[in-house]
Amino acid sequence: MHEPLELDFSVKYKHRIYFTEGAFNVSNPILAQLLQSDKVLIAVDVGLITARPTLLTEIGAYALAHKLSLTRPPFILNGGEASKADDKVAQQVLAAIESDKICRHSYILAIGGGAFLDAVGFAAAIAHRGVRLIRMPTTTLSQADAGVGVKNGINTFGKKNFTGTFAPPVAVVNDFDFLLSLDTRGRRDGLVEAVKVAILKDAEFFNRIEVLADTLMQADKNILGEVVRRSAELHARHIAQGGDPFELGSARPLDLGHWAAHKLEVLTKHRLSHGEAVAIGLALDIICAREIGLFPAALAERVLVLLEKLGFQLYAPEMHLEKGRLLMEGLEEFREHLGGRLTLVLPVKLGESTQVHALDADVIRRATDELKARASQ
Ligand SMILES: NC(=O)c1ccc[n+]([C@@H]2O[C@H](COP(=O)([O-])OP(=O)(O)OC[C@H]3O[C@@H](n4cnc5c(N)ncnc54)[C@H](O)[C@@H]3O)[C@@H](O)[C@H]2O)c1
Ligand SMILES: [Zn+2]
Repeated sequence: MHEPLELDFSVKYKHRIYFTEGAFNVSNPILAQLLQSDKVLIAVDVGLITARPTLLTEIGAYALAHKLSLTRPPFILNGGEASKADDKVAQQVLAAIESDKICRHSYILAIGGGAFLDAVGFAAAIAHRGVRLIRMPTTTLSQADAGVGVKNGINTFGKKNFTGTFAPPVAVVNDFDFLLSLDTRGRRDGLVEAVKVAILKDAEFFNRIEVLADTLMQADKNILGEVVRRSAELHARHIAQGGDPFELGSARPLDLGHWAAHKLEVLTKHRLSHGEAVAIGLALDIICAREIGLFPAALAERVLVLLEKLGFQLYAPEMHLEKGRLLMEGLEEFREHLGGRLTLVLPVKLGESTQVHALDADVIRRATDELKARASQ
């Protein structure tokens, strides 16, 4: 009488990521093979068009050569953090899906930075309860991390990613040629996610980034591509094979440095990019890990030096607002976003991490003070 009907079911996903160059060269078959449908809607980040004005012509020629059924010329929309600061871009995409009669068998190809992919991906995930999405990340950060995952989202109530879903894309196409039009800041941004995932999962990769550090900021797509690719692989492998792709538990094992980073992005009103905020959050977590005896001091120094060598500032005055109280709120917001018990990942050595469930306010204060002193040296 009181026994429930219980039915187990599972859904199999394939996480497919292509690494390529010249995706819109007519001779490159990847997109033509992926976009076989009678309806394709292409959405492009306006910042990308500004940086690479020939892109629209390239897309047009490619679509013509491969007889792609575009429902309209590429839909150019706001990019950058503004595109997910409210629901405007998401609503524009929803309206296009409705008016172009995009269905669950059609494709949306989203081309742009991580913020843009988050906003367009959110619209694609909720329209008809999920339209097929192909992501083309175009920044180092989105190719190395944001774009190769399964999440999307927009900010609501002033909170990062408050509204969003888990929705694996049909495929991700990482075209290293896009990285060439990034400015120094844009190029640097994604490297911090590579450093982060190397600390957590791959000591060899960390050593390799150290070796490449001096050359990484030059616009050499082979060197940049090597680091971006390894970072994407480590992130994607963790998501697909780490046992919790939809983050049902209380841990976010790849989010080293992110509790503070998310708060700092908001506190600085996005003066700091995601990558810049993660660099500070990473430095903070590393010092905290050292302070509580988890992470050896010599390794902590190597991490800080590497981040500085890559050109990251490791302090923002907002960390000390209201004697650090505002930054501390980030811990609770991080816990709230996941629910359950506070769970932070901290490294114990390069390539290995552990979980902690509390971080003392004094430890955080010592770490912020140290970063301030270090920045003024
Ligand atoms: N969904 C996820 O799993 C996930 C993971 C990590 C980060 N993120 C999100 O990703 C966002 C950050 O992404 P981002 O670092 O790519 O920044 P971004 O999307 O804000 O892009 C930065 C700027 O670069 C421009 N741009 C894009 N491609 C370009 C190119 N090839 N050349 C020149 N300019 C170009 C954009 O128009 C924008 O102005 C954050 O909102 C973060 O929360 C999401
Ligand atoms: Zn990140």
